[in-house]
Amino acid sequence: MAGSTGQAGEQGWSSRSAFVLAAIGAAVGLGNIWRFPTLAGENGGGAFVIVYIACVFLIGLPLVLSEVMIGRSGRSDAAGSIAAVAEKSGVSRKWSLFGGMEILAAFLILSFYSVVAGWTIHYVFVMLGDIVSSFQAGAPFGTAFQGETQDMITGRMGELFGNPLELILMHTAFMAITVFIVANGVHDGIEKAAGTLMPAFFVLLVLITIYGAFTGAFAEAVSFLFTPDFSLLTPTAMNEALGQALFSLSLGSAALITYGSYVGNDVKLAPTATMIAFADTGVAILAGLMIFPIVFAVGLDPAAGPVLVFQSLPVAFAQMPGGSWVGMLFFVLIFFAALTSSISLLEGPVAWVIDRFKLKRLHAALLVGGLAWCVGLLCALGYNVLSDVRPLWFWGIFADSDILDSIDGITGKVMLPLAALGVSLFIGWRADRRLVEAETGLSAGTLMLYRLIMAWIAPLAVLLIVVFGLFPGLLPTS
Ligand code: TRP
Repeated sequence: MAGSTGQAGEQGWSSRSAFVLAAIGAAVGLGNIWRFPTLAGENGGGAFVIVYIACVFLIGLPLVLSEVMIGRSGRSDAAGSIAAVAEKSGVSRKWSLFGGMEILAAFLILSFYSVVAGWTIHYVFVMLGDIVSSFQAGAPFGTAFQGETQDMITGRMGELFGNPLELILMHTAFMAITVFIVANGVHDGIEKAAGTLMPAFFVLLVLITIYGAFTGAFAEAVSFLFTPDFSLLTPTAMNEALGQALFSLSLGSAALITYGSYVGNDVKLAPTATMIAFADTGVAILAGLMIFPIVFAVGLDPAAGPVLVFQSLPVAFAQMPGGSWVGMLFFVLIFFAALTSSISLLEGPVAWVIDRFKLKRLHAALLVGGLAWCVGLLCALGYNVLSDVRPLWFWGIFADSDILDSIDGITGKVMLPLAALGVSLFIGWRADRRLVEAETGLSAGTLMLYRLIMAWIAPLAVLLIVVFGLFPGLLPTS
């Protein structure tokens, strides 16, 4: 049984592995399966992958350790934990403002995450419908979408976007499931969900990757992902890689601090943080090895962008044996990954509402989930009824972004990096050194390296993302 935990945690994780699974569930999500292949594809493959891996282990991993440590030491929500650690260290409680920003970031990410996850539910139904019609046609294991042209298949995405009712319905379903799980608590909700969904996710991931290896262009995919072309190592690509590392590890968005507050005092944090970082990176790379063989096999463009998974892959399923089944399993897999992430996106703000306003868990989950649903509603309408709305029209890099992309942009490019900057400065310069040493349990040499990273390397690197992310004009053109 875990030690004492924050109020929202009631009794904490039932075991170390329950925590590890939930944290991996938070990390592995749309970021791994949708965003990572998209960015790798757009940024030339191998070169991006190398920078990404460097960012994960050099900056991301120490930050994961820091956030979990803050949670366990502070035993409260993201803001409360930072305040508690600040108090123990004899410095200003104002550092908790970064925790507040993490909570707000989680809330905003949840709102659009639920909309995108809703697309995956829609596509599960699309593939199911296709399975039914292939049975009727007497070829249940044939290719998907028989008799449809490529334009008809890719056009399905546009049809979905033009159908606000369907978008809202799927968004509502996804948010309702998320709220239901979180309302059931850390033990009976989050832990159980991760314990069921993550193993199923891994089985599907391996199965589809093997399928792609046999039927797809596996060698081409491997060389695309692992042969770096260093001329493609532009500052923009590096900037994207660091931002993606933060997003994918769920840094800067309350989850790891909150989950850390439910961790027992006997758990060694450094090996745990290492496992989370390895699992997340492993899944991102496996996802690349799952998706690109299929993309290359039918000669699709790896740089298709955000539509790669939802628009390009169905075209591939239409040309591969058993395509409807693989397609359905593929979207179920994304749905599972998204759900374990949305749970922790909701848990961060919910823990804060419980601690701060003393609400019951059920009420807090309904309140936060309901509010995030409203913001998500605007995102969904941004594809149709509100398609002319540009919320950040006044801000150069976001001027053309619709509602969903604006919220994605402002969280990913501004809020997560700022929170990461705050956490690294706080741990690197202000937090009590003995507390850090005791909580991390690092040996002298590693501890020195960790301090160097938190005090200098991470803040500088993250500062670079914020500056170049917001003012791409400052970058040398390439
Ligand atoms: N890591 C998640 C993914 O890769 C996205 C995410 C960002 C997240 N911040 C989070 C998930 C906080 C849970 C909690 O899809």
